[in-house]
Amino acid sequence: MPRAAILGTGFDVPDRVVSNDDLTAVMDTSDAWIRERTGIEERRWVREGTTGAQMAHRACLAALEEADIPASDVDAIILATLSPDHAFPGTGVFLQRELGLTGIPALDVRAQCTGFVYGLSVADAWIRMGQYRTILLVGVEIQSTGLDVSTAGRDMAVLFGDGAGAVVVGATDDDGRGVLVTRLHSDGRHAETLWCDAASSARHPRVSSEDLASGRHYPSMDGREVFKHAATRMPEAVEEALAASGLEIGDVDLLIPHQANLRISEMVRRRLQLPEERVYNNIQRYGNTTAATIPIALAEAVREGRLQRGDLLCLVAFGSGFTWGSALIRW
Ligand code: UT7
Repeated sequence: MPRAAILGTGFDVPDRVVSNDDLTAVMDTSDAWIRERTGIEERRWVREGTTGAQMAHRACLAALEEADIPASDVDAIILATLSPDHAFPGTGVFLQRELGLTGIPALDVRAQCTGFVYGLSVADAWIRMGQYRTILLVGVEIQSTGLDVSTAGRDMAVLFGDGAGAVVVGATDDDGRGVLVTRLHSDGRHAETLWCDAASSARHPRVSSEDLASGRHYPSMDGREVFKHAATRMPEAVEEALAASGLEIGDVDLLIPHQANLRISEMVRRRLQLPEERVYNNIQRYGNTTAATIPIALAEAVREGRLQRGDLLCLVAFGSGFTWGSALIRW
């Protein structure tokens, strides 16, 4: 049975840098509050005209180049996003069109911040069962166009950024590398704890002027509740993946947690008793890019030489749904 290995990584972020001070001009917040509560110093927001499919395309081209694989070898696309370019069809087919890969399947994954880990689990299964050999797995978000950039929306608006990260997942017969295990979870009892109510097919009409007036089209969150669950579920998911593969926390060379809040990453690191140098964070520069945070961080970690062949990489995520999950990969 072939194994699924990550053969190349890439990312793309908008060139428009939005600092914490830029936000203080439009809402009642401060650089000090944002840094202390979240660790975020700046984020990237798209300029008008940039689409998620365009960023995903650039991230995929970088990943294919690193893998030294031509786009024509790709036989499936998995794209994770909670902010699709359009209500339908999914962003995956727009990416497929940009890549010129007519005919191959394009699957959009709706698992929010855990979307990339869910997508990796699907790619791993497809490769193991022999259905596909070379898969582009992408996380992409444009959060900025959906945020309430005023004091009323400050709890959410300061957190999120835009960007795309991609990996080439390919079949390998090398026993010494590849995805070892993935573990996925969800708990819909908390669906409204972090969500966006409108536009929605459950409403008649999907969005009304009253919805717009009351801000139901903006995302909302009980931040403390999400924080509490994230800080508990992420270490649990790491321990679950380690137990399933007979490994220990000391075996992990690099942990890339979903980038929601530097304080959450720090709590996860402490609970797992990992030294600082074994946890990769870049939320300081990008904010929370949801499904894109893990592949952007992974691509940066690779470019900084933080992963060597044979290293044990652990990915872990938590987000809206709630959804959460983990993956262990022998690099
Ligand atoms: O991707 C996964 C999903 N997201 C997360 O995992 C996020 C999880 N939650 C968090 O990261 C944190 O809960 C936040 C960063 C969102 C908030 O930090 P907190 O320490 O939990 O603050 P809080 O919500 O308890 O708010 C404290 C105060 C409030 O004022 P009062 O009621 O104490 O007067 C807020 O109104 O901070 C106020 N506040 C702000 N002040 C300045 C909320 N947002 C801001 C802001 N600037 N941007």
